[in-house]
This record gives sequence, structure tokens and C-alpha cells, in this order.
Amino acid sequence: MYKRIALTGLLGFLTGTAVFAQEEAPVQVQKSANAKVTNLAPTPPMGWNSWNTFQTRIDEKLLRDMVDTYVASGMRDAGYQYFTLDDGWMSMERDKNGQLEADPKKFPSGMKAFADYVHSKGLKFGIYNCAGDRTCAGYPGTRGHEYEDARLYASWGVDFLKYDWCNTDSLNAREAYITMARALQATGRPVLFSLCEWGNHQPWLWANGVGEMYRATGDITANFDKDKHMGTWTALSVLTIVDKQPAIRQFNGPNHWNDPDMLEVGNGMSPTEDKAHFTMWCILSAPLVAGNDLRKMSEQTKSILTNKELVAIDQDKLGIAAYRSSAVNGLETWIKPLSNGKWAVCFLNRSDKPQALNHVWAQNALNDSFSKRGADFTQSTYKLHDVWAKKDVGTTKKAFRQTIPAHDVVLLTLTK
Ligand code: GLA
Repeated sequence: MYKRIALTGLLGFLTGTAVFAQEEAPVQVQKSANAKVTNLAPTPPMGWNSWNTFQTRIDEKLLRDMVDTYVASGMRDAGYQYFTLDDGWMSMERDKNGQLEADPKKFPSGMKAFADYVHSKGLKFGIYNCAGDRTCAGYPGTRGHEYEDARLYASWGVDFLKYDWCNTDSLNAREAYITMARALQATGRPVLFSLCEWGNHQPWLWANGVGEMYRATGDITANFDKDKHMGTWTALSVLTIVDKQPAIRQFNGPNHWNDPDMLEVGNGMSPTEDKAHFTMWCILSAPLVAGNDLRKMSEQTKSILTNKELVAIDQDKLGIAAYRSSAVNGLETWIKPLSNGKWAVCFLNRSDKPQALNHVWAQNALNDSFSKRGADFTQSTYKLHDVWAKKDVGTTKKAFRQTIPAHDVVLLTLTK
């Protein structure tokens, strides 16, 4: 990737043409013939999911407290909407009629009562299952039960289904996800469909119209730049996931979001790394699904997750993911076109030491071949606003200089 950026730069230099490192040529998304006709996710979905902190150790008491804190902490008012139970909510087997049931020890009041509680707080209710025979944690999967499971979820008031890909043998991914999408549609209840096959079958090429979001990478781990080997698989660092995004950015948009996985903000990285992680998800127009223990959230974590300007950038109605325009010595520039002719420009220091930035706007025109938008600072001047510092910082007439700490970002918005 870096080689390609360098080559693009060299070619630009030799030919005298404008240079920007668009890493892949845009490809038109084909609307699936089996498309659902819904508008459930015109902007990236926002919510909370139990997996990153609790894995299968979930129960009604814990989750009710989490719902209460979701509201009390201001997460709901900041735009987070879904409350999703991941793997581990079921009994180990289906009941005698072949129906899934919530584990009665974990959910003594039953799943309908829990869903009602979530709804009573003005939130939407999400649940998890898997296209295979068993979920990744070994609970009963949906294979061969798609329509009855969808009906059960609808009867509970489920609004969101995350659908995983473990124990699928030789199932065809596209077919399996279309079958479940149809089953959900047949219930008549609008259910946001979140595909989770880790990008193994290039869902960005076919999932637009099947579901509203699709995981494009393997599972995240709460580490900024080091993957974690888990035996048979590898959990991915924030930067590993970020590096996979430029090649698929053209597939992102309203009702079909590339999903770089749930957030690890508040789960053990440094505050700087949490801030950089959240910023990258926002400029990628990614779904924002918090995965921390909301009951123990520090003020710092809360201020990151509920930052209004950041959330507004993520939720910008154009839904155009950022492109990486340069990468030099671990200091990267990412550009996101925003509505009303604005831009977000993010400087990411992925290196382990502070980096001095000296950004001369006149020498760095913005040029997005995918959205066909651009800005030439020799022709027009933009006002600069530093989003994290919450202050205006001059215009594009003057170079922007700042030292960026290791694993940190500076995020600017540009307004004409
Ligand atoms: C997979 C998914 C995770 C989580 C677990 C649950 O690994 O990618 O997000 O849902 O399964 O078992």
C-alpha cells in the first residue's frame, strides 16, 4: 500500500499532474436482485453490544443496569440507539418444538420482557445468531430454522439482527444471508440486518440490499497497533482494520455500511489511542457500536463516545468514507468529504513518537475520484476548525503546524 502511494506520488511528480493516493479504482455497486426495500440505516447505525466486554457472561440484571446507564450517561441522547445482545443469550439446545429459547437462568423474565424494557427506555433491541449449525460460542445456530427464528424475533420485538458465520461448512455466504434477509422481511417487522462473515466472501460486492451493514474484517482487539494471536485465528488491532478500509471505501454508503467491527473505546487502550480509534471510525462513516462497560465508563471515555462534532461527522448524510491521501513516516492524512461543501481532514500519527506536522494547504489540493469532489486551496480559502480542541484555527491560507503525539490524531473541519 505504501509502495503504491509512493508510486502514485512519483508518477504525479513526473507527469506534473495532481497527486492523491486513491488506492483502488471505484467500482459501481450492483443493487442486489434480492434487495430489501427499506431505509433503516440512512446513516451509520449506532448502538451498544455486549460482546467486547462480556462475551457470553450476560444476564438480565447486568443488562438492565446497562440499559439504565445507556440512558443516564447520555449515550442515547448522543445518538446511540440500538442495544444488542451478542452470543450467549440462549439455552444450549432448542426446546422440544425446535424453537430457540432465552437461557432461563440468565433471563428469568424471558426475552420479550427484556425487549420491552429496552423499548421502554426509547432504545431499539438487537439480538445475535449465526448462519451455521452453532454460533461461534457453541449455542444453537439458525441454519435450517431461518423463518421460525425470524418469526420468534419479530414476536419479541427485535429491531436488529447480527448474523454470524461460524460452523457454516460449505454454505454459500451470499445465499445464506439472502435467505435470512428474506425470512426477516417475511415477518413484516423492520429489522436491521447486520452481516458478520468477517469479509471472507467480499460482502461489499453483494450485501448492499441484503443487509444494512456488513463486517469487512475479522474481530477487533483492544490494541492500537498489535494483532493478537488466538490460536486458530487472529484478533485485529485498530490499525490493521484501518488499513483494510481504503480498498473498499467506494462500497460504503446509506443503508450499506462497511463495518470495521465494534468499538474498543474504554476497553484498555490509552485515552489518546481511544480518541484516534473513534476518530478513524467516524471519518470512515462506520457503524458506531460501543462495546465497553457503560456502568464503569470514565468521564474521558464518555467524552469521546458522546463527542457531538465527531458523531455528526460519522453521521454526515453523504456517508462517504475517508480516503488516505498521504502516508509519510507513519504520519497519515485522511480526507472525508462532508455535506454542504465541507471537508474533514484527519492527521493520524500511527508511529511511536511525536511527529511535527507542517501542512501547506496550497500544495495539497483535495481530490476524491470516487465522490468527484475536490478543493484547490490556491483558488479558494476554507476556515479551519479543530474538532477535538473545539476551536477555530485560522484558514487554509496559512500552513497548519502542530506536533502530534504518538498514536494521536488532529481532526479539522474545513468550511468555505
Ligand atoms: C464472532 C463475531 C464476534 C462475536 C462472536 C460471538 O467472533 O465476529 O463479533 O459476535 O463471534 O461468538
